[in-house]
Amino acid sequence: MERYAAGFRASGVPWAFATTRSPEALAPILDGYGQSVSPEYDATGRELGTLSHVLRVYLIDAEARVRNIYSVSFLHADTLLADVRTLLLEAESAAAPAQTVAATAGTRDPRTGYVEGVYTSRSVGLAARRGAPLDLVAHARTRRPGLPAIPEPADNALRADRVALGRRLFFDRRLSLNGTLSCAMCHIPEQGFTNNELATSIGFEGRTVRRNAPTLFDVGFRERLFHDGRERRLEHQVWSPLLAANEMANPSVGAVLDRVAGLDDYPEAFRTAFPGRGLGVETLGMAFASYQRTLVSGPSPFERWRYGGESDAISEAAQRGFALFAGKAACVDCHRVDDAWAPFEDGAFHNTGVGYLAAMGPAETTQEVLVAPGVVVEVDRAIVDAVSEPRPADLGRYEITQDPDDRWRYLTPSLRNVALTAPYMHDGSIATLEEVVAFYARGGVPNPGLDPLLRPVVLDARERADLVAFLEALTGDGVPALVGDAFAAPVGERRDTAPTP
Ligand code: HEC
Ligand code: HEC
Repeated sequence: MERYAAGFRASGVPWAFATTRSPEALAPILDGYGQSVSPEYDATGRELGTLSHVLRVYLIDAEARVRNIYSVSFLHADTLLADVRTLLLEAESAAAPAQTVAATAGTRDPRTGYVEGVYTSRSVGLAARRGAPLDLVAHARTRRPGLPAIPEPADNALRADRVALGRRLFFDRRLSLNGTLSCAMCHIPEQGFTNNELATSIGFEGRTVRRNAPTLFDVGFRERLFHDGRERRLEHQVWSPLLAANEMANPSVGAVLDRVAGLDDYPEAFRTAFPGRGLGVETLGMAFASYQRTLVSGPSPFERWRYGGESDAISEAAQRGFALFAGKAACVDCHRVDDAWAPFEDGAFHNTGVGYLAAMGPAETTQEVLVAPGVVVEVDRAIVDAVSEPRPADLGRYEITQDPDDRWRYLTPSLRNVALTAPYMHDGSIATLEEVVAFYARGGVPNPGLDPLLRPVVLDARERADLVAFLEALTGDGVPALVGDAFAAPVGERRDTAPTP
């Protein structure tokens, strides 16, 4: 252990290493954490006196709860220290007055200051979250100006018990392979049910996910799901993240069902919510879908203005922005605004050049790497490539249809709550709404498959600001109440505690 520690101490971080007096005393502790140690042998089968060890590092909080698990490939002192600091913040915020939801919802995480090292997050430690539960079924069924009734499938009409079950599952960290990653950790309620801090998601044990997490607000209105539109029903969609090796990493459908069957009173709750059926591959999807369908955020100030007859609901700048959106800038060609309501999408796939640029754009020779808040280093690309996983290719809709014309086409996203859901595009490559508007003014990224609906448009500084003001008027009035409800939801945590030697 002493020899092992020496390598770490050289880094300047004051690590402390603890071990036991004997292998016999160590064995039950390692067993408790599912770690194995085996002696190493030389080619002739003689014991070398060294050990080979599948190292997993556990972050355990003051209440002996497992808060994170790192595999050795993703173990870095800065990551660990940042996580420890987060836990300490949580303890502090538990002592401080509870943070109300109003203070955290409605404005996305301010990411300014990250590079200078003075970054503060609006994310609230679990212990400090306060919010009031909503009657989600009534909330979802309330009729709103400019919004159709929430579509309810015949076999899965909204029921309070199914919604409650889906809500519990959504915040349950035990649903991932090592019991630490919930849906809500990539779709963070107070960050627009997406993640403002990551361009592309990070999944199980730090694995790379190649796309940006979409918001789940108003997801019940969408007719296609995922950036490539590969699913249509929320009831089916959940199996993608539950089983993807780089997301929640469960090995099989059966393993997920076994896991849920062994947790708390889930089986009983499923029997009540799905009479005669109980927990199964379909009902699990139905429960998740039920909760997500209730995340109706509208109406937005824009909807109250356009469809509710409230003439002063949005600023004059936003009104001018809408005129540009529907007129000169022709955004409505894809982000539709109809007479009865505004879906802000067309259910279709377009090549805007974002995917083309990532795949075919000029290769950079250096890359800025943010190693910790405030610490940016310029690194040779070759070094980055040598130590990181190759960037996974992303061909968009082509991956679903195999039609070459569909290369780099992506589903038009709805723009509801877009002010809360930065960064933008399927790969999170555009940081702000101002930059998105500049991107469209250039007519997207020229490439052979560029959508003919995109062409450069001259927009002066005021027009650009007006467009942004319009996009900011699309934030739903219901956001704070839904975030408050999410804060009130129980978080399913691993209950195993450190075995005492
Ligand atoms: C590791 C981060 C991560 C986790 C965990 C995760 N998601 Fe996602 N989610 C994503 C990403 C990234 C996408 C987009 C993937 C794509 O388009 O291929 C996505 C897409 C979705 C969509 C489609 C939304 C749309 O408008 O197209 C839904 C719905 C969704 N997730 C719900 C869930 C649920 C429910 C869970 C838990 C069972 C979950 N997610 C867990 C990252 C995550
Ligand atoms: C040809 C169809 C088309 C037109 C016209 C169009 N968009 Fe888009 N928009 C898309 C597609 C497709 C995406 C997703 C691209 C991706 O994920 O790579 C997108 C993404 C966006 C996003 C990011 C949303 C998010 O959640 O990531 C914003 C904001 C946006 N568009 C605003 C506009 C504005 C403003 C205009 C007019 C100036 C406009 N769009 C015109 C198709 C279009």
